Amino acid sequence: MTKYVGVLTAGGDSPGLNAAIRGIGKSAQGAYGMQVIGFRDGFRGTMENRTVRLNSAALSGILTVGGTILGTSRDKPHKMPVGSKSRDMTDVIVANYHRHHLDVLVCLGGGGTMKNALHLQRNGLNIITLPKTIDNDVAMTDVTFGFDTALGIATEALDRLHSTAHSHHRIIVVEVMGHRAGWLALGAGIAGGADVILIPEIPYDVEVVADAVRQRSQSGKHFSIIAVAEGARSQAEAKAMAKAMDKIAAASDKKARREAKARRNQLAAEQADSTQRLARTLEELTGLESRLTILGHLQRGGTPSAADRLLATRLGTACSSFINDGVYGVMVAARGDRAEPVPLEQVAGKLKTVPLDHPWIASARAVGTNLGD
Ligand code: F6P
Repeated sequence: MTKYVGVLTAGGDSPGLNAAIRGIGKSAQGAYGMQVIGFRDGFRGTMENRTVRLNSAALSGILTVGGTILGTSRDKPHKMPVGSKSRDMTDVIVANYHRHHLDVLVCLGGGGTMKNALHLQRNGLNIITLPKTIDNDVAMTDVTFGFDTALGIATEALDRLHSTAHSHHRIIVVEVMGHRAGWLALGAGIAGGADVILIPEIPYDVEVVADAVRQRSQSGKHFSIIAVAEGARSQAEAKAMAKAMDKIAAASDKKARREAKARRNQLAAEQADSTQRLARTLEELTGLESRLTILGHLQRGGTPSAADRLLATRLGTACSSFINDGVYGVMVAARGDRAEPVPLEQVAGKLKTVPLDHPWIASARAVGTNLGD
């Protein structure tokens, strides 16, 4: 019996998505004789029934291409913006799945996608996911595709910023993506020789950072490169946020929860330009001129690295083999050289942050990098 496979990409785009689509599509058709269609723009396409045949012509020439040929969105099945409202469109998605006689829907995405995929599985669909994100924050997999490419881009940026910081005797604060995890900033910071690395897992003390910069000046190095994860916060900011989160958890009724959430949102808004404030404060504290560089979406753009193409192809082809065996309700995780199925319940809603005893942290400290604590 021919199996029918649907594929979608959701959440922020990530280098390696097309390599994964190609890996799934080519192996599903070539090795197992399956039929594959893609849905456009993430879960929105499954609601609007916008599809594309992923035949060999569509899969040809995409291995090296950045972004996703399917398009993506952050729309959620159960909170889909429709007109001016947000509506639960799960039933429509389930109906469209059956309309195409699908045996499985493959969802390529990060943390948010894992939750949405589990939701659809609980509504009766067969689901398999693949872990993609430049943030590397998906639980139960060694690594996500997209991370290696972004790591390379951020590292090259740090390399390039060294010469201009050195020439102008400046502090350059470099904001690196990563959402609420520090993998990208820590990895690029180590590889790019940042003098200070600040990550969300280790709230920083700005005086400690300023001291590190001053000590470098005293030893004749009148410039510093500071790699900051976008989610990094000062100790005071982290404390205030933790208090707000505790209040949400402790709220006894709807009104108290609404107020606590409003306070959390207000804090998040106040803390949004935290990297900019850090650059200004360091200038005041050290007397060195400072500049802020936000790497932003550059880190997600362009052709995937060889490692990401390989990982995406490996996970994509393993995905087809799991479909052939009828293994559903899982994420295809990278575990060493193997691709293993992990139940979606063990992945969804779990954030993989940098453990404080991670060897990268020990190595950074061992080479004298300041982590702001
Ligand atoms: O999850 C990937 C990511 O690039 C994060 O690092 C970042 O916080 C976020 O997406 C940016 O999202 P958007 O593309 O919607 O601005």
